[in-house]
Amino acid sequence: MKVSFFSAKPYDRQFFDQSNAGFGFDFEYFETHLGPHIVNAVENTDVVCVFVNDKCTREVIHILAARNVRIIALRCAGFNNVDLKAAKEYGIRVCRVPAYSPEAVAEYTVALLLTLIRNTHKAYNRVREQNFSLNGLLGLNIHRKTIGVIGTGKIGKAFSRIMLGFGATVIAYDTVPDPALREAGVAYDSLENVLGCGDIISLHCPLTKDNYHLIHKGTLSKMKTGVILINTSRGGLICTSDIIEALKSHKVRGLAIDVYEQEENLFFRDLSDKIIDDDEIQRLMSFPNVLITGHQAFFTSEAMSQIAQVTLENIQKLMKSDEPADGSAILV
Ligand code: NAI
Repeated sequence: MKVSFFSAKPYDRQFFDQSNAGFGFDFEYFETHLGPHIVNAVENTDVVCVFVNDKCTREVIHILAARNVRIIALRCAGFNNVDLKAAKEYGIRVCRVPAYSPEAVAEYTVALLLTLIRNTHKAYNRVREQNFSLNGLLGLNIHRKTIGVIGTGKIGKAFSRIMLGFGATVIAYDTVPDPALREAGVAYDSLENVLGCGDIISLHCPLTKDNYHLIHKGTLSKMKTGVILINTSRGGLICTSDIIEALKSHKVRGLAIDVYEQEENLFFRDLSDKIIDDDEIQRLMSFPNVLITGHQAFFTSEAMSQIAQVTLENIQKLMKSDEPADGSAILV
């Protein structure tokens, strides 16, 4: 049985080849992302294995179905890039890896937050140039701050618990509040109140049609002046032009993002000798109080091993018309 990987990087090969010892599938790796430009090259394959920026639109799914592809296997948790309705109509099963390591993402969120508010990235560069001055490195404590968490699923929960450990007050908004987290000391409130009370706001909800540009001019205006915003969830949750204005007006004191709405054309590649024609990311990169990383929150050895193992298990089960143990792995 053949699995065709899209957006495949050397590290994907490393972990999937390793895990495949227990499965014995045939693998074909494509470096390009899946989209209308390449879908016609899919041949004699049963499964396409895709990542966050592959585009499984209705048009792509229509062609995949015509080429007898039976499964779209996401090797990630988020699935906003797959038209599930179209997949269902064409009889293609869709699976994902719901929880490879929420801690990997939660811990990375803390790393971004601490870097942003303690300036360790600037200190590192300074010290390498024998500059041991502290001017301009003044930071903020997390202790006693109010942290607003939007979305308290697996990642938001892990992040909230870490923040409680720092001695912060955690308030959260989720469409489905978690009783155990409430018990642990997190107070749930409306979206408006959480956005309005947080000194630091961290986004951990999936991107859906309903919350596209959740952070925009209107919601930004309700936040505290000097708010710190962190997004390790999906780029489309933030309206980039509005956040640029909020940074320019000092409404937002700091922004750390591991995801970006137009990341598809940028992230996961070395563009160091290219001209980037995305003016918004260039503007964001020019702010001294903005920290950007290229969608790496998930990227730990532990998470990569788990992603490979669970993806291949999902494929094996679906091929046998069996259901994976974790029902949330199956989307269609
Ligand atoms: P999850 O499914 O466990 O939790 C999502 C939570 O968000 C649920 O509790 C749900 O009720 C809540 N929710 C849904 N819509 C909401 C809304 N409009 N407002 C507030 N809450 C809402 O998902 P998990 O594993 O915690 O992942 C969260 C997101 O993190 C993923 O959807 C994905 O976009 C992103 N992610 C980013 C990674 C990275 O490397 N940067 C890696 C893995 C996930």
